[in-house]
Amino acid sequence: MIVMDEAKVIKASEEFFRANIPKSRVAESYIRQTIWSRNYALKLAEIYSADKFVLEVSAYLHDIGADVGESHPSKSAKMAKEFLLKLEVPKAKLAQITSCISNHKTGAKTYAVEEDILQDSDALVFLEDTYKVFLEKQKKKSSEEQARKNTVKKIKTILDSIHTDGAKKLALELFNKIPSTLRVE
Ligand SMILES: [Fe+2]
Repeated sequence: MIVMDEAKVIKASEEFFRANIPKSRVAESYIRQTIWSRNYALKLAEIYSADKFVLEVSAYLHDIGADVGESHPSKSAKMAKEFLLKLEVPKAKLAQITSCISNHKTGAKTYAVEEDILQDSDALVFLEDTYKVFLEKQKKKSSEEQARKNTVKKIKTILDSIHTDGAKKLALELFNKIPSTLRVE
């Protein structure tokens, strides 16, 4: 029986995400947001006794298919599967990882605590950082006021989507640090 070396797979996953930055993303913020997502995932995994290996690998690889846009979770999952198969990750773990990645988008149905946690981690990073990128993108598409309103709405959706109490507590702290103009409709 081949025993997988988890530390080796985690290291390889980190190297893979850093070496394959989606063209549609700014490298610096992509790397920062992925690392923060990984950190939140491990923090929440500790609280909820979730599978840290599954979460760390999933967090590193969750956006590798970002270039396809809206449907990127399934693209990222497919790419992750191809990559992890070469590293002899057992089928059960592989299934958990690909489900986490496939369902990481806010609002997607979740089937395991690891999936809740990855979604929550991404949500926390949005409330800490990604909302700024979202606002700038909105400004390119509409007026300043409309961009602000869309961002307020998005922030509220993200905040309401959080599954775990541990993430809710962190989300509220992050929400309170967002400029007040982006918190009130
Ligand atoms: Fe994503």
